[in-house]
Amino acid sequence: MMKRFLLCCLFLALLSTRSFADEGMWLPQLLQALNEKDMKKLGMKINASDIYSISKGSLKDAIVSFGGFCTAEVISDKGLLLTNHHCGFDAIQNHSSVVNNYIRDGFWAYNYGQELQNPGLFATFIVRIEEVTKDVLQHVIPGMTESARQSQVDKNIAQIKKDYKKENWEDLFIRSFFDGNKYFLFVTETYKDVRLVGAPPSSIGNFGKDTDNWMWPRHTGDFSMFRIYADKDNRPANYAPDNVPYKPKRSLKISLDGMKEGDFTMVFGFPGNTREYLTAAAVKQIRDVNDPARIGIRAKALEVLNRFMRADEHIKIQYAAKYAGIENAYKKWQGEVLGLTRTDALQKKLDYESVFTQRVNANPAWKNSYGNLLSDLSKTYTDIQPYSYARDYFNEIVPKIELLGIAADLNSLVTAWTKDSTSYGKKKTDILNRLEETFKEYDVTVDKKLFETLMEMYVSKQDDNYVSAAVKQLLKDNNQSYTNAAAQLYSNSGFTSLDRIKQTLELPASEALTKIKEDVAVKLYSDMLKTFTSNVSRKLNEYQASINQLQRTYMQAQLEVFPEKRFYPDANSTLRVTYGNVKPYRPKDAVQYNYYTYLDGVMEKYVPGDYEFDVPKKLIDLYKAKDFGPYGENGRQPVCFIGSNHTTGGNSGSPSLDAYGNLVGLNFDRVWEGTMSDINYDPSICRNIMVDIRYVLFIIDKYAEAKNLISELNLVHPRAKAKTK
Ligand code: ARG
Ligand code: GLU
Repeated sequence: MMKRFLLCCLFLALLSTRSFADEGMWLPQLLQALNEKDMKKLGMKINASDIYSISKGSLKDAIVSFGGFCTAEVISDKGLLLTNHHCGFDAIQNHSSVVNNYIRDGFWAYNYGQELQNPGLFATFIVRIEEVTKDVLQHVIPGMTESARQSQVDKNIAQIKKDYKKENWEDLFIRSFFDGNKYFLFVTETYKDVRLVGAPPSSIGNFGKDTDNWMWPRHTGDFSMFRIYADKDNRPANYAPDNVPYKPKRSLKISLDGMKEGDFTMVFGFPGNTREYLTAAAVKQIRDVNDPARIGIRAKALEVLNRFMRADEHIKIQYAAKYAGIENAYKKWQGEVLGLTRTDALQKKLDYESVFTQRVNANPAWKNSYGNLLSDLSKTYTDIQPYSYARDYFNEIVPKIELLGIAADLNSLVTAWTKDSTSYGKKKTDILNRLEETFKEYDVTVDKKLFETLMEMYVSKQDDNYVSAAVKQLLKDNNQSYTNAAAQLYSNSGFTSLDRIKQTLELPASEALTKIKEDVAVKLYSDMLKTFTSNVSRKLNEYQASINQLQRTYMQAQLEVFPEKRFYPDANSTLRVTYGNVKPYRPKDAVQYNYYTYLDGVMEKYVPGDYEFDVPKKLIDLYKAKDFGPYGENGRQPVCFIGSNHTTGGNSGSPSLDAYGNLVGLNFDRVWEGTMSDINYDPSICRNIMVDIRYVLFIIDKYAEAKNLISELNLVHPRAKAKTK
C-alpha cells in the first residue's frame, strides 16, 4: 500500500513538473497568471505584458493568422510579413507560368510596384481576447441532450455577438476551449490586401521536399514574404491600387546573434488542432485503428501516383501538389504511431487515469458525478470503433478518386435546382470554374488506376454492411475484376473530360440535369454516399455526441481533480504561446542529433539536377566564396535549429523569439519521432524545427540581392548589448 502511495506521489511530482518544462500551448492573455514565473526561470528577459497587452503595444500586435491556415509576423514598419514558403506556396503557384516560373526560380519585388496581389488571401490580427464562459453557458443545464445544449449555446453566442461593442472595421468570434468548459471571445482586424513580396526558388524554400519533410537534420529555407496594404486611414480594405503599406502597431526586431543550446525560445502563433486530454482508450484507437487505416490507404495511393510520376514528366508536375499533400499527413501519422509506441504513451495515460480514479473514489461528490466516466468513455470508444474506421475509409478513399469528386460536384447542381432554380446559373459557373482548375491537374489514366486500387480496399477491407450495393453490382458485372470495373465505369461516364462536361452543361437545365442524374459515376457516387449516410454516419454521429459529452465532463473533472496541475487548452486555431529551449535530442539508442544545421549540410545533400536535392548555382558560389555577410558564424552559414517548443500544424510561419522577444527563426516543422505531440507531448523527443533568421536574411540579401527589403528591417545584437551592460 505504502509503495503504491509513494509511486503515486512520484508520478504526481512527474506530472506537475512535466507541464512546467516545454509542454503547452498557452493563452497569451493568461501568461501573466500562469506562466510568467516559469518563463523567466527558463531564461525569458521580458514580461508577460510585453507579449500580450491590450493597453499598450505588445508582441501580439506583430502576429497574424495568415489566410487562416498558417501564421505570419510583421517585420517592418511598412507592413512587411514573413511566413513559410509552404504557406505562401499557393500564392506563388498562382503567379507562376512557364515564362515566369516563380516556383522554380523564386520571385522578388525590388519596389512596391512589383508586389503582386492575391485575391482571397488575408491577414488577421487579434485585437483582444475576453472570457465569456458565463454568458455562453447561460441556461445550459446538466442533463440536457447534446443538441439542446448546442442550440442554447448557439443562441447565447448570437446574442453576445449582437450586444458586443466593437469598431465597424473589427470582427469578432467566440470559440470553445477545454472541450466546451470555457469560451473566449476574440476581437480581430482582418486585412484583405496582402501582396507577394518575395520567395526563394523551391530548391531553397522546399529543399529536400518529401524525403526531408518531418525530418531532422533539415536544411530548408522555408520562407516567403508578403506585405499588408491598408486604406489611407491604415484600416482594412479590399485590394485597391492606391492602398498603402500598412503601418503596424508593432513590428519584430530581428536578432543576428543566433541561438545556443539551452537558450530560451518561444513560438507565438495559431496552432490548429491537438487532442492532449483523451483517455487511454481513445489514444489506443487512434494508434491501432485510425492511423493504420489512413496510413494504409495513403500508402496505396502514393504507390500509384509515384509509379506514374516517375514515368511521365507532365504527370509529375500535374500531381506534385496532390502528392505532397497526401504524403505530408501519411508521414506524420507514421511518426505519430511510432512516437506513441516508443514513449509508451498508453501506459502514461493509464497511470494518469489510475491516479484520477483513486482521487475520484476518495471523494463522494466526485465519485457520484465522475465515478463512471472512464468506463463509459471506454465503452463508447468500443462502440464507435467500426464506424470511425468506416468513416476513415470513406473520407480517405472517396476524395482521392477524382471522378467521384467531380460526380459529387455535378450532382450538387441537381440539389441546387430542386431547392432554388434561380441559383442554378451561378452554381453552374462556380462548378465550371472549379473544374477548369481540377482538370489542369487531372489525368484519366492515373485516376482510373486509383479507382482500381482504392476500391479494392474499400470493398475488401471493411465490413460488408458499409460497402455500397452499386459498387458490388459493378464488380459482379465485371467478374470481380477491379480493372474491368474501372474500365467500364470510366468509359461509360461522361465526366472524365472537361469538354464533355462543358457540352452537357451547355444543354438546357432540364436536359443537363437528366444527363447528370443518369451518369454512371454520379449513380455510383450517390449510392456510396447513401450507404455511408445510412449505415455509418447516423450511428457515428450518435456515438460521437456521447463522446463529446463525456469528454467535456472528463475535462471538467481533470481540472477539478488535479488542482496542482496547470492545464492549457487544446489547440483550436487561436493565438497561443509555447516556450522551451534550444535542445538536441536522442531519437533512438546510440543516436544523438545536434541542434543546429549549416550550409555545409545543404552541400552534403546536393544531388545535381535532382527533383528534391538540387542546389541553385548562385548558392553554391556563395558557399564556396564563404560570402555570408553578417549572417554567418565562424565562417559557416547556420540554416536550421530545433527546440522543445510544443507546436502543431498552423504554427507554420510562426516566429520563434529569443529571451528578449527578438525574432531568431521561423517555425516550419516538427521532427518525425515527435509528431505524437498532438496527442501526448514528450519532452525527450518532441522538437519543433525552425529556419534560422540569419539564413533567411542571407538568402534575401546575398542570394536575391533584395537590399530594398533588408533596409526595412530592424536588426539587433542582443548578446553584445547584454555584455556591455
Ligand atoms: N510538414 C510540414 C507541415 O506539416 C511541412 C509541409 C510542407 N512541405 C512538404 N514537403 N510537403 O506542414
Ligand atoms: N508544417 C506545419 C504547418 O504547416 C507545421 C509543422 C507541425 O505540424 O508542427 O503548420
